[in-house]
Amino acid sequence: MHEHLLTSDPSREDRVKVHWWYLKTAKEKLQFKALCKRGLSPAMAVGSVSKPGQYPHAAMPLSVQDNFPSTPGKAKMERNNYFGFTKITSRWHSSISAKFSFWLVVLVFLLAFAVFRLKFSGIHTIGHVSLLTDPWVKHVKHSCHVKRDDGLVVLVTGSAGFVGSHVSLYLKKRGDGVLGIDNFNNYYDPSLKAARRALLEKQGIFVVEADINDAALLQTLFSLVSFTHVMHLAAQAGVRYAMENPGSYVHSNIAGLVGLFEACKNANPQPAVVWASSSSVYGLNRKVPFSEFDRTDKPASLYAATKKAGEMIAHTYNHIYGLSITGLRFFTVYGPWGRPDMAYFFFTKAILEGKTINVYQGPNGVELARDFTYIDDVVKGCVASLDTAQRSTGSGGKKKGPAQLRMFNLGNTKPVTVPDMVKILEKHLKRKAHINIVSMPRNGDVPFTHANITLAQRQLSYNPTTDLETGLKKFVHWYRSYHSNSDKSRSRP
Ligand SMILES: NC(=O)c1ccc[n+]([C@@H]2O[C@H](COP(=O)([O-])OP(=O)(O)OC[C@H]3O[C@@H](n4cnc5c(N)ncnc54)[C@H](O)[C@@H]3O)[C@@H](O)[C@H]2O)c1
Repeated sequence: MHEHLLTSDPSREDRVKVHWWYLKTAKEKLQFKALCKRGLSPAMAVGSVSKPGQYPHAAMPLSVQDNFPSTPGKAKMERNNYFGFTKITSRWHSSISAKFSFWLVVLVFLLAFAVFRLKFSGIHTIGHVSLLTDPWVKHVKHSCHVKRDDGLVVLVTGSAGFVGSHVSLYLKKRGDGVLGIDNFNNYYDPSLKAARRALLEKQGIFVVEADINDAALLQTLFSLVSFTHVMHLAAQAGVRYAMENPGSYVHSNIAGLVGLFEACKNANPQPAVVWASSSSVYGLNRKVPFSEFDRTDKPASLYAATKKAGEMIAHTYNHIYGLSITGLRFFTVYGPWGRPDMAYFFFTKAILEGKTINVYQGPNGVELARDFTYIDDVVKGCVASLDTAQRSTGSGGKKKGPAQLRMFNLGNTKPVTVPDMVKILEKHLKRKAHINIVSMPRNGDVPFTHANITLAQRQLSYNPTTDLETGLKKFVHWYRSYHSNSDKSRSRP
């Protein structure tokens, strides 16, 4: 049809074809051919034979129209006159550039994402909790708010426990920042732990429900808060339960302790640690009163062995990492909000219910005796230990010098026999106990405990003031009111 119009320029050839097919009438096609033969560009030819605006492509300025590539794969980069930008005028080239731009954008995005992850790694989320926005973070920070000059910021582990709840309340009351952590295990009735937690929350103390073996969580807490001190009271307590569930002692008292020390040693700044060991480390010692300088290599129970192991582990973390560590050997702590697995507690329950209690006797009819220590006295000893603790010397896992390492007995120095303790309970409960005397089984119990507290007196100004008579009176008062309240709430619809 228009073969004679074709030239060696394939680009022009294509444009002629396109325009020729666009033209509607035979007359227009003839004129178009003639003009093209004369060497006019196809676009100009179309413009000349048609009315203005009839063929949009014809109306285009030549400079623009000729810039459209007619042949795929041809490469040509040039300045666009209209916009002043470099314009990609070939498909081949534009596809390369587009790919390049695309991968550049992807790379920039990945880099930005990596930087963001690095910056917030470990503290951005726990499970589904976004640490940047979640109310959980606000609770943590609010709980750690200090309200007195030079106040401490203390992480209290085992805060829903007996001693932990009392220490937390004391610290909060005097204006220190306090954050609790407890796994609320069911070693004894968890509803008592929940009630203690409610008490703490009323005073603005937040208790994180978690296990101290959760390294990521501990790391998160230390990233969120600069704790000056850790009061470590979380543990598997009780001597007899070790024969039933030995793993729980290893889990909390050894693995948990190591996990906690790891978090403390990695923290920057490192906190000073005060933690609960136990009078049970004196084991089968016969020399009384028990002194911190006595040997403690004859534990009578797995519980005692894990506490002794804890003391050795504490030495290691002090020696290698410069952690300031104070261990406290508690002697049979008792009082309001106490532990239901302890004799004074379950004797009270049994006496009130009219049930028989087993009172153990040692060899040759020797009565067992305990250095019962009232909770308020123990709390004072704990707080004095926090207040006198020197700073850790390391930071971020590196030791910078020798650090403080201490061990104190926190006892009452006035042991009372178990039958005498039962008599005091009978008096306050106004009930007679049904007593069954039995020989002490081999379950890890020791015949007596008696603390020498000279060291704590000297260095902590620790002076227990509550005798067993007074302390048990307070306990019985609390026991009655707690149980009448919980009975009432249980009977509520
Ligand atoms: N009460 C005493 O007479 C006595 C005597 C000697 C030593 N101690 C020691 O004092 C500390 C406090 O004892 P307590 O009488 O308050 O006991 P407790 O059982 O009432 O308190 C311990 C708390 O720690 C929590 N816990 C246990 N394992 C945990 C874990 N892995 N992660 C998080 N939380 C965990 C428990 O849920 C509990 O609430 C313990 O270390 C105990 O061994 C107590």
